[in-house]
Amino acid sequence: MPVPVRSPVLLHHPRTGRTYRLVPLDTLTPAPAVLERLVALCNEPELFRWLFAARCGDRPYGPDDARGWLEWGAAGWRGGGHFAFVALDESGLPAAACDLQSAAVEPEIGYWCGAGHRGLGTPMVEALVALASTAGFTGLRARVRPGNGRSEALLRRCRFAAAGDAPDGFSLWHRPLGGG
Ligand SMILES: CC(C)(COP(=O)(O)OP(=O)(O)OC[C@H]1O[C@@H](n2cnc3c(N)ncnc32)[C@H](O)[C@@H]1OP(=O)(O)O)[C@@H](O)C(=O)NCCC(=O)NCCS
Repeated sequence: MPVPVRSPVLLHHPRTGRTYRLVPLDTLTPAPAVLERLVALCNEPELFRWLFAARCGDRPYGPDDARGWLEWGAAGWRGGGHFAFVALDESGLPAAACDLQSAAVEPEIGYWCGAGHRGLGTPMVEALVALASTAGFTGLRARVRPGNGRSEALLRRCRFAAAGDAPDGFSLWHRPLGGG
């Protein structure tokens, strides 16, 4: 089973010049400032709408959700079943995140980026592509909810190709890696 390397990857925001460190999610501890930042980011309208509204319904994303996500990230690295990363800003707090959602040779990816860091999504997902390629994954897949144009634009920038629609209406995307 492919496993990505755990060394931090430096990300450079293409417009602002800010630098971020992409690190395995299990290295992030649930300190109060971390939980506070995660709750703030995940309640931003765009993130909440596309990622958390279906799960949270009428209630906001809360500290327990953030703790659960950190535990999910740690369990994935421990068991080798999924691999999540977080992009930390200069203060060491989360700004964006991405993951390989399984250890299949062509796993689905996930990603989000805080509004204050917009533009970081593409370099972050490109770094994820490079990590996956080096680890030996043969391709990556993505599923996008209907209407999520920003997500589709990111995938195009990262050279994913549209691969039709799923029966549930999500659009499917694929990027081969290496010789795959
Ligand atoms: C999808 C998502 C990750 C894209 O992140 P991103 O950082 O905006 O992606 P990109 O790297 O492609 O950035 C391009 C955008 O940033 C803008 N941008 C780049 N640098 C910028 C800067 N310094 N200041 C302001 N805007 C900037 C670009 O103009 C472009 O804006 P547009 O989307 O309005 O055209 C983000 O919108 C998000 O987290 N959405 C909610 C979660 C989600 O949908 N996840 C995917 C589920 S399938």
